[in-house]
Amino acid sequence: MKIQTAVFVGACGKPEEFFGDGTPEVAFAGRSNVGKSSLLNRLVGSSLARTSSTPGRTQTVNWYRIDGRWWLVDLPGYGYAKASRTAREAWARLIASYFAGASSRRLVVQLVDARVGATPLDIEAGAYFDGLGVARLVVATKVDRLKRNGRARARDGIVRALNLETEAELLDVSATSGEGIRELWKRISDFLAG
Ligand code: GTP
Ligand code: MG
Repeated sequence: MKIQTAVFVGACGKPEEFFGDGTPEVAFAGRSNVGKSSLLNRLVGSSLARTSSTPGRTQTVNWYRIDGRWWLVDLPGYGYAKASRTAREAWARLIASYFAGASSRRLVVQLVDARVGATPLDIEAGAYFDGLGVARLVVATKVDRLKRNGRARARDGIVRALNLETEAELLDVSATSGEGIRELWKRISDFLAG
């Protein structure tokens, strides 16, 4: 799949500001620092999203309009250790209102750091998405950092921890090397076509 235009439309700290208009949405969710913004940039082929080695960079729901037809949504990361309780509660409210928002179709791409594996928060988030009944694809990020054995072990662990039914529900990706990007595009286009 080739995209023609990717435009950053806005960073929303409040639900009233959300841009959802009923067209399909592909939302990136995952722990802070897992690589959401980097993967989004790699997908669209430009540095639209701000990335950082400091966790907690993206604290708003960021909307990117793709080809004037659908949205890529960069959700704020969860599990930011230094966040205050108030900040965590604000985060939870923002995420809940994002998912409560009207959208005809939504795909959640849940990112899990391959080197870290699925943490209790990843498991909790996975159960939350399951409960919403939203379509979900899990991707293991930063696989460029692992050797073959480590990867297989990481995959097994993630599949088991998140209770995935098949290995096919988990994709290995690297925003750095570009591995898995083509397959991720394929899954996204299947979703958009479906
Ligand atoms: P928040 O906005 O804080 O939620 O983080 P994020 O999930 O958007 O992470 P971000 O994309 O900003 O990346 C976090 C760090 O991981 C940065 O230092 C990136 O350079 C690094 N990183 C992201 N993707 C990869 C990858 O595929 N491989 C490697 N080796 N590093 C990566
Ligand atoms: Mg980010």
